[in-house]
Amino acid sequence: MNTFMQKYYQLKVQKTEYVTPTIKTFTFASESEKLPHFGAGSHISLKLPMGKRQYSLINDPLQDESEYTIAVKNVGTEGGGSSFLHHHVKPGETIEVASPENYFQIRTEARRHLFLAAGIGITPFLSMMAFLSHTGQSFDLYYAGSSASECAFYSTIKKRYPDQAHFYFMEREQKEKELQNVLRNQCIGTHIYICGPSAFMDHYITYCKGLGYPDENIHSERFRPSSTIQNPKAFQVTEEQSAKTLYVNSNQSLLEALIDEGITVPYACRMGVCGTCEVEVCNGSVLHNETFLTEEEKKEKMLACVSRGEGAITIKV
Ligand code: FES
Repeated sequence: MNTFMQKYYQLKVQKTEYVTPTIKTFTFASESEKLPHFGAGSHISLKLPMGKRQYSLINDPLQDESEYTIAVKNVGTEGGGSSFLHHHVKPGETIEVASPENYFQIRTEARRHLFLAAGIGITPFLSMMAFLSHTGQSFDLYYAGSSASECAFYSTIKKRYPDQAHFYFMEREQKEKELQNVLRNQCIGTHIYICGPSAFMDHYITYCKGLGYPDENIHSERFRPSSTIQNPKAFQVTEEQSAKTLYVNSNQSLLEALIDEGITVPYACRMGVCGTCEVEVCNGSVLHNETFLTEEEKKEKMLACVSRGEGAITIKV
């Protein structure tokens, strides 16, 4: 059973706007009801013909209460959500949108916030920077892109945060050198937030860990698991509390198998990004397929929605 029931709203597309040749913003509003408040770093899920797609809200969480805005890069995949939004969704149309969720929250314990963005990965940081700026907290943005014209919200960010925004449009090696230098020179208590293409995120997460940043100071958001298990195999699982043993087929997740068996596991995203479906691993070997849990946590826990056992495992829900 899910931990909460998400409410869906029929929202009207108020306006769309190109902010780079490949990135378009979409603003949604309700004609009949008040929209739920959202926190910095939140995202919404859109029900599209090809399935649910999640996008970060880029509005100011303390000022924009009557609309939700997202920015979508057209990745050009035929039949994909971004291509559908770019080519078929026009002002005046109605889209079903779920109430906002937030798996990428600002950490209140941080002494300083450092945002590392590449490309469309800038989107969650727009609401975060607006919030921190209103509340007078210290932050810096390091934003890598191929050029100013390809860099979404370049002028707005530059104007709004002249002292905190730093842009990197140079060659990749030079970019890496500069960003690594930034990461090497931070005060204790700095929290790093990373968002961008998987390779970018993997690189800087590993780099930060190598520098000794504690796992709990490194935050990232991706709306898909960082890796997918090739040719998933069936495995056996025993759930300790219920003493039930079941088989997880190669084409189903552990979460699905547990729910089918009547074992209640809370869940939300089903993509390995929220941690809601975490279960304890008592015995056996696990193929972890996410970057939500720290390496330490992975020794005794797993996310039932994306990770799999090998052979036979015992878990506790
Ligand atoms: S349901 Fe979100 S990580 Fe599994």
